[in-house]
Amino acid sequence: MAASAATAETIAPDSVAIEDMQLTQSLTGAAGDPVAGREAFADRKRGNCLACHVNADLDSELFHGEVGPVLDGAGDRWSEAELRAIVVNSKDVFGEQTIMPGFYTLNVGVNVDEEHAGKTILSAQEVEDVVAYLTTLKED
Ligand code: HEC
Repeated sequence: MAASAATAETIAPDSVAIEDMQLTQSLTGAAGDPVAGREAFADRKRGNCLACHVNADLDSELFHGEVGPVLDGAGDRWSEAELRAIVVNSKDVFGEQTIMPGFYTLNVGVNVDEEHAGKTILSAQEVEDVVAYLTTLKED
């Protein structure tokens, strides 16, 4: 068998089924790591979430975009299943017109360069890590 980072339990991007704006099942079958998720969130080459979202927990990072809602308290406003659906494919939650990218979908639009064709922006593990991190963002 070919070596692969994906385990048998990993749900492929084209098998993800978001229903009622929720995705209850973990993409990896395991819980994410909020510390790794915080890094992926801030990493300009991975989540790059700060390009569009203010997040007080990452105040030390320069430049927070304001295109999307402030994410402080996102863990109070949304359930884990909703947060997973938002990160996996925001269009299934906010509608086709949203400018937020889907981070675990192959349906990313027509202007995809060769390097990114057939790939998701985040891996299944990174999605689970980011979701675990988002659930820690509570209003204090
Ligand atoms: C290109 C800009 C953009 C990027 C990049 C982006 N988002 Fe968003 N996000 C939005 C917009 C805009 C909305 C509001 C929904 C809408 O109206 O389309 C949103 C909504 C959300 C919400 C719901 C917010 C709330 O409380 O109402 C969450 C959670 C979220 N994004 C998480 C993330 C995460 C995590 C990342 C990185 C993995 C990310 N976003 C990257 C633009 C972006």
